Amino acid sequence: MARIDQVGDSIYRISVFAPEKRICFNQFVIDDERPALVHTGMYPMYEEVRTAVSQVLDPSRLAYVIVPHFEADECGGMGRFVAEAKQAVLVCSATGARINLLQWDYAGPVKGVQDGDVVDLGKHRLRFIETPHVHHWDSMMAFDETTRSLFPSDLFIQPGEQPPVVHENLGKDMCQWYRAAGLFAGERPVLRVVDYLATLDIQWVHPMHGGSLPSDILPGYVHALRTEPFVFDGRIFGRALPW
Ligand SMILES: [Fe+2]
Ligand SMILES: [Fe+2]
Repeated sequence: MARIDQVGDSIYRISVFAPEKRICFNQFVIDDERPALVHTGMYPMYEEVRTAVSQVLDPSRLAYVIVPHFEADECGGMGRFVAEAKQAVLVCSATGARINLLQWDYAGPVKGVQDGDVVDLGKHRLRFIETPHVHHWDSMMAFDETTRSLFPSDLFIQPGEQPPVVHENLGKDMCQWYRAAGLFAGERPVLRVVDYLATLDIQWVHPMHGGSLPSDILPGYVHALRTEPFVFDGRIFGRALPW
């Protein structure tokens, strides 16, 4: 069963723990005049995620489904969410629209955003940050200017089953997990974004895997990324390639 917790002003975390993967998959509902769902979970998780969303608001009210990059856990449920919410728009990066969502088996509305573009939800304002190669070509993040909350998708994650808010510094675990999984090809695009994020006065980070991080906890994770090895080292999900 998905766990539902409020983690901010009208921001709800819907979390499904996958014991076999030892990681949780979070979706975020921003309940507003024009509600948004930030990532959808994988296709097989749809019913569970939809049931949980429906406990926060009527899923047919969703105005935006935010797709931070084209990968099944970020967008596997998008087709069914937008089918139910007739006015809903998929929001992805301009690159994501160009290389994926406009070239896919999907004929609904797509909004490809560039860095600095804003979507007004009513009380909340989502500003988008293009973050190519963190960890996909089309990656972007959303920053809620109202609550100064960052939705960084797969950056600042923590492995394992985590509570809705994490107060521990699990930065080393994060880096070890990234390295074993082979999530990032290189350091430079990630550290470039980390430097930029430091200018934003972030109060909360709501990662897709793990728990949400308050601002006083974030520096430990930033430090880990700046000091620990975290990029691909020949392993993919822990399996060493033979060459
Ligand atoms: Fe991802
Ligand atoms: Fe993810």
